[in-house]
Amino acid sequence: MNNPLLKTMKIGFIGAGNMSQVMIKGMVESKLIKPDHIIVSNRTPGKLLKLEELYGVQTRKHNEQVVEECDVVILAMKPQDLPAAVEVIANHFEPHQTIISLAAGINLKMLEHMMPIGRHARLMPNTPSLIGQGVIGYLVQNDEEIIADLIEDLFSTLGTLIEVDNEDQFDALMISCSSGTGFIFEMMMYWQDWIEERGFSEEISKRMTIETFLGASMLAAQSVGIDIEELQSRVASKKGVTAAGLNSMRELEIERTLRISFEKAALRSKELSNEAVKGR
Ligand SMILES: NC(=O)c1ccc[n+]([C@@H]2O[C@H](COP(=O)([O-])OP(=O)(O)OC[C@H]3O[C@@H](n4cnc5c(N)ncnc54)[C@H](OP(=O)(O)O)[C@@H]3O)[C@@H](O)[C@H]2O)c1
Repeated sequence: MNNPLLKTMKIGFIGAGNMSQVMIKGMVESKLIKPDHIIVSNRTPGKLLKLEELYGVQTRKHNEQVVEECDVVILAMKPQDLPAAVEVIANHFEPHQTIISLAAGINLKMLEHMMPIGRHARLMPNTPSLIGQGVIGYLVQNDEEIIADLIEDLFSTLGTLIEVDNEDQFDALMISCSSGTGFIFEMMMYWQDWIEERGFSEEISKRMTIETFLGASMLAAQSVGIDIEELQSRVASKKGVTAAGLNSMRELEIERTLRISFEKAALRSKELSNEAVKGR
């Protein structure tokens, strides 16, 4: 543990859904935070009972109690639920507290406006965090180094942490890495279908797909100093089989398809952000 303060810190989660469960699991299993230093509230009680049983965390009926007891408060409800939840707790924060929002589409300025007291950060985890993989982006109010260090200490077990400089970068990271996980799964489904259509069982087709994506990723990860284009050229000899497939992908403009899809996702993020502002 890098930060001795973590031993005494209390970490609050408002919202006990999928993402909180992943983060709590990571914190407890890595022994980063004592289970009884994690305090969770939720709109309805069912998930709280499960978390108490599974990890020995403390739970509270009211969100205000979490705010009053914790040094760090993680806002882990859906973006559309955040404004209403925050309205009730905003006046309970003190200046030393760190408020970390997971909500897509609600930028730091909006968070500061809704909760003028406290130090703010945004964090963008994603489902591979469940196995300690994938990219987690974060953006800290006023570039406060102390909060950045705290986030690095708290969440490093969940994957590769990347601090971004501004909201545009935060959105780009969200789309390419968090939504990106979904985009990769879309491609994996087509891969598996094609293999299955050629007589392989579902199980083997899935395995072949996963190992192909994993193999390419691991090779790229371990090929320090070699860019992806170079790795690709090593698979594709001129006028060979791979080159024929790659030429077709380029003729069919796969890059354009991906770029448009990324842009559409970015547009939706902006829409959600506008909806959150209107809903306030
Ligand atoms: N899942 C992902 O892959 C992912 C990735 C990146 C970021 N995020 C972000 O993480 C946040 C949480 O996502 P999630 O997937 O964990 O959502 P989720 O499973 O739907 O969990 C949200 C939780 O918030 C609770 N809640 C709603 N309003 C509340 C309130 N006023 N007070 C207390 N609790 C309240 C809900 O309670 P009920 O049980 O009563 O419904 C629910 O348990 C979202 O902002 C999302 O954008 C998620």
